[in-house]
Amino acid sequence: YTVNWDVEAAEKGGYDHFMLKEIFEQPKAVKDTLSPRLNKQNDIRLDDITLTKEDLDNINRVYIVACGTAYHAGLLGKNLIQKYVNVPVIAEVGSEFRYNDPFIDNKTLMIIVSQSGETADTLAALRMAKEKGARTLAVTNVVGSTISREADDVFYTWAGPEIAVASTKAYTTQLVSMALISLDMANKKGTISNSMYHDLIDELRDTPAKIDKILDTSDEIKKLAEEIYNKDHIFYIGRGIDHDVAREGSLKLKEISYIHSEAMPAGELKHGTIALIEDGTPVIALATQDKLYDKTVSNIKEVSARGAKVIALSMLKNKEIDQSADRVIYIPNIIDDLAPIVSVVPLQILAYHVATLKGADVDKPRNLAKSVTVE
Ligand code: AGP
Repeated sequence: YTVNWDVEAAEKGGYDHFMLKEIFEQPKAVKDTLSPRLNKQNDIRLDDITLTKEDLDNINRVYIVACGTAYHAGLLGKNLIQKYVNVPVIAEVGSEFRYNDPFIDNKTLMIIVSQSGETADTLAALRMAKEKGARTLAVTNVVGSTISREADDVFYTWAGPEIAVASTKAYTTQLVSMALISLDMANKKGTISNSMYHDLIDELRDTPAKIDKILDTSDEIKKLAEEIYNKDHIFYIGRGIDHDVAREGSLKLKEISYIHSEAMPAGELKHGTIALIEDGTPVIALATQDKLYDKTVSNIKEVSARGAKVIALSMLKNKEIDQSADRVIYIPNIIDDLAPIVSVVPLQILAYHVATLKGADVDKPRNLAKSVTVE
């Protein structure tokens, strides 16, 4: 008999879509991005970055500029650099940055994040920053891309080619890159304790295995998708780092299922957006951050009281959250600062299953291109 493999099926490795294949490639992509940068003493060694302690001592402001999913990854960089490197960070989308009269001089570090390395809005921001004397560092997935050639330093994510328009493995490897860069800077500047530095590195090492555990729950997540895929509006709420991941989860859903969705700071609901909640409105509530957990649980109760159907996403240690939410997605426990590397995975899977249940063209959503080379 003859096996009639079409090329695309072979390239999809047996998965129905490139997006699903790339979601399942994340443990390997994260490991491939991490391993070359960790030495036997469990220290970070970034041969690709030439920023010295002297350079860093001269930096008094960091900009992180990117678009879409890459911007959402940049938000983790903002949190980690502000917390561990003790320098103010401004994260902006490329299409806004250039028109906001940014403060840039030779004491500015500009980090740009771009999977393709060709995004016009991000490239224009890089060029503007260089003109004004900033030091520039690019995080990109494409060797030899325009952005990689024009930045002073380049930090490659080793996610492998990402074919699906909706970015998944590029995002998680960008998050890992933000962590490695931030911790390396903090270690060079001496603004992080040795124990915290190594605890975070140990946690980074565990992320591929934790992502693997979540991939095993794809069928359970599909059952949740079956409950919400025919809704017109789906909201994501969270506080702090959870709000940053809520934005990424909402974008994934919008761009492949075409369902209207919005990520909202959970603390802002009472200032207006809770008016949007109707009986049966699905609300995905992220509650992974210890210091914000109780307040987020009260937001869950707030929207539930108004009829929302709440799917909470929290860590295994918060077993009791199932008393407040209709459904719960539990993720393996991980240090709060690195939670996005793991907490985004169920949201990627949820968006994927919602889109396939709707019969959408998951890998090539309408109106979108993989790399947006126009401004
Ligand atoms: C994400 O799923 C989208 N495909 C889009 O937001 C993308 O992240 C954005 O266009 C930035 O692309 P880049 O990372 O190649 O610069």
